[in-house]
Amino acid sequence: MRVLLVASECAPFVKTGGLADVVGALPKALAGKGVEARVILPCYPALRGVAEKGTAKIPLGRIQGGTATLIAAEEEGISLLLLDAPHLFERGGGIYLDEAGRDWADNAQRFAALSEAAARVAIDGFDGWFPDILHAHDWQAGLAPWYLRQRGSGLPCVMTIHNIAFQGVFGSDLIGPLNLDPKGYSVSGYEFWGKISTMKAGIVASNRVTTVSPTYARELLSNEFGMGMEGLLQSRKTDLIGILNGIDLDVWNPETDPDIPENYSARALNRKSASRTALEKRFALTPAVDAPLFCVISRLTEQKGLDLLLQALPTLVSRGARLALLGTGDKGLEDAFRRASAQHPGIVGTIIGYDERLSHLMQAGSDAIIVPSRFEPCGLTQLYGLRYGTLPVVARTGGLADTVIDASDAAMKSGCATGFQFAPTTAEALADTIDRACNLFLDRKAWTAVMRNAMRHPVGWDASADAYRAVFQTLLDEARQRKAPA
Ligand code: ADP
Ligand code: GLC
Repeated sequence: MRVLLVASECAPFVKTGGLADVVGALPKALAGKGVEARVILPCYPALRGVAEKGTAKIPLGRIQGGTATLIAAEEEGISLLLLDAPHLFERGGGIYLDEAGRDWADNAQRFAALSEAAARVAIDGFDGWFPDILHAHDWQAGLAPWYLRQRGSGLPCVMTIHNIAFQGVFGSDLIGPLNLDPKGYSVSGYEFWGKISTMKAGIVASNRVTTVSPTYARELLSNEFGMGMEGLLQSRKTDLIGILNGIDLDVWNPETDPDIPENYSARALNRKSASRTALEKRFALTPAVDAPLFCVISRLTEQKGLDLLLQALPTLVSRGARLALLGTGDKGLEDAFRRASAQHPGIVGTIIGYDERLSHLMQAGSDAIIVPSRFEPCGLTQLYGLRYGTLPVVARTGGLADTVIDASDAAMKSGCATGFQFAPTTAEALADTIDRACNLFLDRKAWTAVMRNAMRHPVGWDASADAYRAVFQTLLDEARQRKAPA
């Protein structure tokens, strides 16, 4: 079975968030299940070196105002098809944002080009390689299934929603420039509240819609979480499937992680303390033994609920606990955490920025990781936390609800707890739970038992890769039945 994944990010090459981790890990997990996956990705400057080692190059002619070439390359165990279109992707700044931090003015055209190239590979093949399934990820890839249908192809398509908050909404003046059939500008097509939505186009044109946790799949049907897409998704309820993300167990492994001073395992937990000491140094925190060191590794946005943590800080401080925060995003939140560090030197440490290696040290050196998201389709940092014995303190929503077992009295008695959940998503509930974590920390035996449970909790891709494979197989069977004479 051959699957073409369409995405705008892929770890370890280009990453702004969890989407990249998933797109980087899923092909390897699928390979273990007999699925041959290729990832079509823009050739950003960071991928130039990989492109130069390309094994095949096929000119695509003009796409969105310039000439483009598709380059096949194998790197880090991933089979890539790089869309080399310098007029769209060869530039400084970020992959979505310019140097001033604004969305690139031509983002619609940039990712329409990616989708167009994907549709062409799906229909015409690449160097004799034809996918059986097209798997589009988030709004950046949403037009790929749509273009396929526009060209009359019935190739089975799966659309994965990683975050419904990003909907690829653009003005209807782009219908022509994006080569969209004007007839599709309707309630049953890509039209969304008087504009174009590429996320909606992908949902409408795909045979199945998946999202990254079972709870988020249910939440998406509600007004609270559906963000205007709930009606559409309700009408596709039977096609909507929640498949939990996994993590790359080779990249996130405390026994082999090259970014931590001493490797450790569930059997040798005492070695975790070397990471803690390094982390304290890095964040200028005062060492302490009778209260946990909490960490946060996050985009600083409304979604992530870190304003709630700011409100709950007095509780954390009063318990003698400490906080190390690594993040970037909203300027107001960045400033607020910088101020909190200045107010509580040695207790609250803030590093504003994006630092993959430091994120590994934080997962290893902290006692607990706080993820107070208002909504969270899956969330990966709590999964890394589980694997590193760094207990997640999470809001009970989306994938956070599905991956952490709260240390309630009952769960402690039965020995299955892996962390802490709180609800509702308020500063008070978070503060209470920080308090609860601090209490448990004082009982070293109980805390260590939860750490060991957390580290044993399955967070890899095995079950989820099976689930994706099953979805793909069903679509192939359905397609075969459609073709077979009655
Ligand atoms: P989202 O994709 O919504 O940002 P996830 O939890 O799914 O949330 O994934 C976030 C990914 O980005 C994780 O791999 C996390 O470690 C990483 N990350 C987020 N912020 C930073 C940062 N400032 N530095 C390093 N890694 C970060
Ligand atoms: C999105 C979501 C996050 C999820 C990630 C990968 O960025 O916000 O919850 O883990 O995609 O699927």
